[in-house]
Amino acid sequence: MTQDNKTFHITTFGCQMNVHDSDWLARALMARGWRAAPEDEATALIINTCSVRDKPEQKVYSLVGRLEHYCRKDSSKFVAVGGCVAQQVGQGFFERSDHVRLVFGTDQTGQVPESLDRLYRGETQRLAMLDFEEGFKLRKFHLPEDGPVSHLPGQAFVNIMQGCDNFCAYCIVPYVRGRQKSRSSEDVLSEVRALAGHGVRELTLLGQNVNSFGLDKQGDGTSFAQLLFRVAEVPGIRRLRFTTSHPKDLAPEVINAFGELSNLCPTLHLPMQAGSDRILSAMGRGYDMTRYLGLVDALRGVRPGMTLTTDLIVGFPGETEDDFLETLEAVRHVGFESSFSFIYSDRPGTRSVRMTPKVDRDVAQERLLRLQALQDELTAAALQTQVGTESEVLLESPSKKQDGGDVMFWRGRDACGRVVNIPLPADGGDLAGQLLAVRIQTAKKHSLVGEAVGKPW
Ligand code: SAH
Ligand code: SF4
Ligand code: F3S
Repeated sequence: MTQDNKTFHITTFGCQMNVHDSDWLARALMARGWRAAPEDEATALIINTCSVRDKPEQKVYSLVGRLEHYCRKDSSKFVAVGGCVAQQVGQGFFERSDHVRLVFGTDQTGQVPESLDRLYRGETQRLAMLDFEEGFKLRKFHLPEDGPVSHLPGQAFVNIMQGCDNFCAYCIVPYVRGRQKSRSSEDVLSEVRALAGHGVRELTLLGQNVNSFGLDKQGDGTSFAQLLFRVAEVPGIRRLRFTTSHPKDLAPEVINAFGELSNLCPTLHLPMQAGSDRILSAMGRGYDMTRYLGLVDALRGVRPGMTLTTDLIVGFPGETEDDFLETLEAVRHVGFESSFSFIYSDRPGTRSVRMTPKVDRDVAQERLLRLQALQDELTAAALQTQVGTESEVLLESPSKKQDGGDVMFWRGRDACGRVVNIPLPADGGDLAGQLLAVRIQTAKKHSLVGEAVGKPW
């Protein structure tokens, strides 16, 4: 086999945690001489999977089936399955397909480059790595010699914890990501400093429940609020975000940070899940709507105009029409700028599998459509309020080229995470990662269009 075959392709499903793990894996593989290649050319076909609902789990099985097709034609090719479905199904993947030669769990991503090398060299036929680690598993941090540190220039994600201890009744995450393990604050800060030194301006701190950072036995005495203040001070960090926040653990000090830290973006993703206290209690979320709405008021009190986004589940076992109407009412009351909404899906091993009555699929589907119609209305109204204002946009990538040819639309995001498209000269060069002052001209259904106020080129 020649060096030329040492190629990989990663398909990623799921949340930012997985996207971040895949980014790391790609960098680590390249540092060991692997090259990224299209799916139909790569030797190692890697899938980073999500099992939060049944649908993404099923997508993994159909993708394995599709990838087998390449492996049958060329015996040097093989499939590696990692992430949450891999943790859940484990060696079961070997039974599904002869071409799956590596299965790795969510705490084992750091070992994957070495394992792929071993498989590539033919030292072993099959490997399963599924153990959970005791502490936060540090991975060697690879800064590229040149080029961006993530798939979005100027932006980076930093893991501050792994796992989750909440065991919400519907959720598989604690089973597939393991117990909560906080990373040491010094490690977080040294990674942040290195990234800032590498031109990163927008930083997102990542964890399943960042508000309980430091509260597990791995914690080093630093609270999430203290960590936020220390990260915000790192020179070069112009925008700081974090996700995901659990409402039950959002501390007053973190709320105050929104009033005190000018580089902490005025936006928060605060999953509400449902608007009915009865359903929230059945979900085991640990807060009621009085607490949730109190947090919303407190946040907007310290940072007027702050935007909120959320996650919602419809059709949780036992949800009545009245419960659902409470969700609609709460969504309207808070005025979420956007939301992710899902139909409840039974996940193996979770408590809600045994809860009844199950909501009829058609009823849940119809509730989802009503919820999404309301959200569309709220999103449109929120975007409309931006017209005529000025904001700072971090450019991500060219979006579409105008017919004339000398103008090119760039896509970026404002501090609240809204997508803004801006026409710029086509010969302006690569502007990805630049911050640009923009005046908003029009609001579309899910995005804004603006014009550059200054010249970045
Ligand atoms: N740690 C994050 C959520 C991670 S999962 C948090 O607690 O906010 C992302 C979202 O998927 C959840 O917020 C929830 O809305 C949804 N979700 C999780 N399990 C689900 C299930 N069994 N059925 C439907 N949606 C689910
Ligand atoms: Fe799942 Fe709840 Fe943990 Fe979020 S907080 S990952 S919804 S168990
Ligand atoms: Fe999915 Fe695992 Fe994230 S289940 S949502 S990829 S933690």
